[in-house]
Amino acid sequence: MILEQLKELEKESLQRGIPILGREKGTWLLQKILETKPIKILELGTANGYSGCILGSQGAKLTTIDINKALSEEAKNNFKTFKINATILLGDALEKIKKFQNKSFDLVFIDFAKKSYIKTLEDSIRILKKNGIIIADNITFPGCQNYKEAVLKDTRLKTEIIQIKDGLACSKKL
Ligand SMILES: C[S@@+](CC[C@H](N)C(=O)[O-])C[C@H]1O[C@@H](n2cnc3c(N)ncnc32)[C@H](O)[C@@H]1O
Repeated sequence: MILEQLKELEKESLQRGIPILGREKGTWLLQKILETKPIKILELGTANGYSGCILGSQGAKLTTIDINKALSEEAKNNFKTFKINATILLGDALEKIKKFQNKSFDLVFIDFAKKSYIKTLEDSIRILKKNGIIIADNITFPGCQNYKEAVLKDTRLKTEIIQIKDGLACSKKL
C-alpha cells in the first residue's frame, strides 16, 4: 500500500522541514482517489513528490508544477521509485495553469503559495471536467481564507471542508 511505502519519505521530509501533506491527510486523499478514479490530475506545488505519489498511485496521469528546481529533481527520483506516471513542470503555477485547455483534468490539487490559491480558482474551474474536483490543502491557514469563502459560496461548486489537521477543501464542479 502506497502510504506504507511512503513512510520513509514522510519521515525524511519532516526531518528536513519539507512541508508535505503527511499520512493523516494522505489517507483521506488516497480514499478520495480510490472513490473518484481520476484519469488526469494537476497538482500545484510538487515539493519532493510525496502527495504526487499518492495522487498518481492508482495509475492516473499526473502533471505537477513547482518553482523549486532542487525539490523537483527529488520529486523526479521519487516518482521513478514509486512508478508514478508524472510530468513535472518547473515554474510559476499561476502562469502554467493558464496554458491548459478547458475541461482537461479530473482533479486539481492545490498545495503551493497560500495567498495565491484564490488566483488559481477560475482557471481550476475552467480546466476541470464536469464532476471533477478541486482539493486545496491547509485550508484553515489565514492566507487561504479568501479561497475558502469563495469556494463555499460559488454556485458552480459543491464544497465540503475536511477537518483533518489544518484542513482541506474539497470542491466538486457541478
Ligand atoms: C507545501 S509544499 C507542497 C507539498 C506537496 N504537495 C506534498 O504534500 O508533498 C509547497 C510547494 O509549492 C512550491 N511553490 C511555492 N510557490 C510556487 C509557485 N508560485 N509556483 C509553483 N510552485 C510554488 C514550493 O516550492 C513548495 O515546494
